[in-house]
Amino acid sequence: MTIRPWQANDLPAFAAINADPDVRRYYYPSRLTRAESDAVVESCMRHLAEHGFGFLALERKADGALVGGAGLSWTDIVPGEPAVEIGWILARRFWREGYAREASLAWLAHGWSLGLRDIVGYTSEINSPSRALMAALGMRRDPADDFRDPTVPPDNPLSPHVLYKIGNPGGGTAATCPPAGPPL
Ligand SMILES: CC(C)(COP(=O)(O)OP(=O)(O)OC[C@H]1O[C@@H](n2cnc3c(N)ncnc32)[C@H](O)[C@@H]1OP(=O)(O)O)[C@@H](O)C(=O)NCCC(=O)NCCS
Repeated sequence: MTIRPWQANDLPAFAAINADPDVRRYYYPSRLTRAESDAVVESCMRHLAEHGFGFLALERKADGALVGGAGLSWTDIVPGEPAVEIGWILARRFWREGYAREASLAWLAHGWSLGLRDIVGYTSEINSPSRALMAALGMRRDPADDFRDPTVPPDNPLSPHVLYKIGNPGGGTAATCPPAGPPL
């Protein structure tokens, strides 16, 4: 698998991923329109240009198919200071083949090489696949850090969120380079 910046020809395939109700089951809003999906890519590329890392495309080496996206982004919706989060979204036909683990391990290693002190992950409490992936990556949840995502209506079942965290095995510095502008 190759992790690379988004390209114009990824847009239809990424829009198909974002239009799949199974893939978007734990997202609010759920399915995205083509324009909304394209806007996500645009904002990921802006983040990459601004910070040198981001949420990027995952391409299968064998045939160039778009597997999905994964990466690191600044977030300010978790409790406390802005943090760098790891995230992922894969087309359903690529699930359970180890792609998310492979991409995540590469992104964590990259984050540590940048000197980040820690990386967080968050998702709705009921998103068990993502929670299992975070646990498999060695990320740990402290229930004291649970929060409600301010972008989800409070009466929606996706509102309660869990926060996972992993520290830089080499120590790292205090969360480096806080975002100059609004985080992604
Ligand atoms: C979550 C997601 C990225 C996992 O991707 P994946 O490539 O299938 O995950 P991997 O094959 O690398 O799995 C790595 C580990 O994660 C855990 N895991 C992944 N999917 C799981 C599932 N459906 N149920 C339980 N554990 C799961 C397992 O521990 C797995 O290791 P194992 O296969 O040795 O048991 C994928 O299901 C997805 O894109 N979901 C929809 C998008 C989404 O919800 N994104 C997060 C929003 S916050």
